Amino acid sequence: KAATLDNTLGLPCRAERFIVATTHDEIRNALVMAADDAAPLNIVGGASNLILAPRLSGMTLQVACDDWWWEESDDQTILVYAQAGLSWHDLVTACVERGWWGIENLALIPGHVGAAPIQNIGAYGVELADVLEAVHVTHCNDGREAVFSRDDCEFAYRDSIFKRALAGRVVVTQVVLRLSRSPSPRLGYGDLAKRVSVHPEVREIFDAVCAVRREKLPDPAVLGNAGSFFTNPVLEATQAERLLREYPAMPHFPQPDGSVKLAAGWLIERCGFKGTRWGAFGVHERQALVLVHFGGGDRQELLALADHIRDTVHQAFEVMLEREPRLMG
Ligand code: EPU
Repeated sequence: KAATLDNTLGLPCRAERFIVATTHDEIRNALVMAADDAAPLNIVGGASNLILAPRLSGMTLQVACDDWWWEESDDQTILVYAQAGLSWHDLVTACVERGWWGIENLALIPGHVGAAPIQNIGAYGVELADVLEAVHVTHCNDGREAVFSRDDCEFAYRDSIFKRALAGRVVVTQVVLRLSRSPSPRLGYGDLAKRVSVHPEVREIFDAVCAVRREKLPDPAVLGNAGSFFTNPVLEATQAERLLREYPAMPHFPQPDGSVKLAAGWLIERCGFKGTRWGAFGVHERQALVLVHFGGGDRQELLALADHIRDTVHQAFEVMLEREPRLMG
């Protein structure tokens, strides 16, 4: 039946036909019904990385299966099986409580497990791709189940095959992660190393990541947002060198292939946007990469602000920012 769709940006959205599937059979039944429909099928997780239209026609499917279990593959390695509807942060918390290493840097990322592989969630020097073993999917057209290995997923920075060739064509039902009992702290990003002891427990890193995020990023329960609104641009070395001659203090991160990643938040801040308000929306005061919704706004207004930021950054730096959350409807 029709329903209002909660989303972390707090945009008003009415889904014409909303189905919450709690079993594999319910997922398959929903897909059969949707296949008879001319309208598109919308697949949503936690709706934390979506910019929703006011109305979603056709069927909107949310997978709510939220069980998880694990298997010891040797005395150090644990394979964690998590269903798509589980909260990502709840899974991270449960693994950290058991002393398992691998996803502690990904604490407090909003959204569901099933969405994690789609944009290859990443933070503080770790990406999902680093620990992902497999992704289980159901094909929308015929209900066929399939398992994708890490290589099959074609992961890249905030990207995967699920955003490209398979966009809208499969439902992620389960994710398998390879975690470890042996300590492998990854503290290279920002000031993480300064916030923990010399030989930190996994819990300390988890706590430090939560603290940094709470300092910088707005809580969507308090202030609407979809996390970073743009991806960090990756430039060819020559273009990056040219910019660095002009702006020697510009944060930049050389990539293994010779390209250079810049900080979109820095570019936006340099253009004077940080902490500014434009009607119902604004640019977060502590992290310029996050657009926030004060309430009462609509998607048109948000996209107009995003275009204005993108054009201004382009004029100033000749760098074209790309939107990170996806449009739906
Ligand atoms: N910066 C500024 N001004 C700002 C924001 C950032 O100058 O307003 C500078 C910082 O000083 C720093 C650099 O930009 O030198 C990087 O900033 P930060 O560590 O805050 O991370 P980010 O590059 O802005 C990315 C991810 C975040 C992730 C953090 C930490 C993307 C699009 N965003 O942001 O992910 O939490 O790194 O790893 O890659 C998300 O995707 O929704 C998200 C929040």
